Amino acid sequence: MDCDKSKKRRDQQRKSCRAKVLVIFLVVVTATASAFLFSGGSSANVRVWKSGVLSIRDRNIMQYALSASHDELVQLQDRLAKANSLVETLLGKQADASEVATGAEEEQKLLATDELWRRRLTGEVKLAVGPHKLPLGFTHNLGSDELFPTLGQACHRFPEELEKYMNYEPGGECPSDESFGQRLMLKGCEPLPRRRCRPRSPKGYVDPTPLPASLWALPPDTSIVWDAYTCKNYSCLENRGKISGHYDCKDCFDLRAGGREKVRWLSDDGALAYSIDAVLATRPTGTVRIGLDIGGGSGTFAARMRERGVTIVTTSMNFDAPFNNFIASRGLLSMHLSVAHRLPFFDGTLDVVHSMHVLSNWIPDAMLEFTLFDIHRVLRPGGLFWLDHFFCLGTQMNTTYAPMFDRVGFNKVRWNAGRKMDRGIEMDEWYLSALLEKPKT
Ligand SMILES: *[C@@H]1O[C@H](CO)[C@@H](O)[C@H](O)[C@H]1NC(C)=O
Ligand SMILES: *[C@@H]1O[C@H](CO)[C@@H](O)[C@H](O)[C@H]1NC(C)=O
Repeated sequence: MDCDKSKKRRDQQRKSCRAKVLVIFLVVVTATASAFLFSGGSSANVRVWKSGVLSIRDRNIMQYALSASHDELVQLQDRLAKANSLVETLLGKQADASEVATGAEEEQKLLATDELWRRRLTGEVKLAVGPHKLPLGFTHNLGSDELFPTLGQACHRFPEELEKYMNYEPGGECPSDESFGQRLMLKGCEPLPRRRCRPRSPKGYVDPTPLPASLWALPPDTSIVWDAYTCKNYSCLENRGKISGHYDCKDCFDLRAGGREKVRWLSDDGALAYSIDAVLATRPTGTVRIGLDIGGGSGTFAARMRERGVTIVTTSMNFDAPFNNFIASRGLLSMHLSVAHRLPFFDGTLDVVHSMHVLSNWIPDAMLEFTLFDIHRVLRPGGLFWLDHFFCLGTQMNTTYAPMFDRVGFNKVRWNAGRKMDRGIEMDEWYLSALLEKPKT
């Protein structure tokens, strides 16, 4: 009996000791993460470029990186709080300790299966999230008699925001909450749940400009609702590079002759700036037909490719400007997708993937590697990945990124590294442009 008791006490001591070690570990991790996120990490990796020439979507990137960092911190603090309360229980009520631990374990299990979360949902969110029972006889392809509508895995971490997003009158007009929805997407709640409401239509809508004139035409202001943006018309967007210094994609709405957008990818400098024609010339004529531009700004890459008979889908977010609407008004395909999203294409289906400025060293290494493998996945054998002005530090180029591209398994067709000179040589800032090929075997 005594022996049993002391064995039990020893077990409890061991448990609380383990918990203490866990807490110390978490404190160290949290402190390190905070130090990284609030000092070196974010300020070194997330840059606000002053240069106009190649400065695109800095703000998108900032917002994205900051929200990601904040989420990581919140998660760590969550875990720390959980571990802390567990330890308090263990130390304070030794007798109940094992029971509490079992209860916590069970709760963890429930959380892991999302049961608790789904049980808490009500109304429209609950309906949207499902599951939905299938009729008998429709289950053979699914291996289940229930359908779960797709929803970003992190949505369950923001139940209140999700509820707010799903708070509308079914069958009525959607709330004017475009930016709110996008922020949820950036926190990993992507895809968002579907809604049963209609976004407000603009007043005085007119038919779009026909192709090919639409490729280089400014759309009518009445083609969209401007609520979510600082600019309230297209001529404001056209000039916003001149109006304010802090916009991302400064000049990319300016399609006028003499503007930067009009000359992009037309000439090849033999170094970082490749021309579309030089890239297409590396493949047999006409074999580059369909592809993707990741984070393609206002769609100019797709416009130039279309002029050469190539169909490009452009992914973009609408950060304080109607990027998706603008691309679409040019008669080009836009896709509202963050860079964290798995590419919605089947394996081996695209001839070319292009990305300028969006993929850079602000993306955590592991996430970037997953992204690169995803690009490799959707390219067909012999398909091209044109990495355009990838930004990093000189010290990272040969130690981190070159080995990463090798690991993913691309062949180098062309590879140009060059210093980014506008802030001086001592900043050790580099660009990499590369034409990479998915091997045929
Ligand atoms: C466009 O909007 C800006 C402010 O956003 C305003 O100053 C300007 O007058 C507007 N221009 C036209 C043509 O409506
Ligand atoms: C990276 O390695 C190449 C040779 O493989 C070398 O020429 C280049 O200077 C290196 N770059 C940096 C930034 O160290």
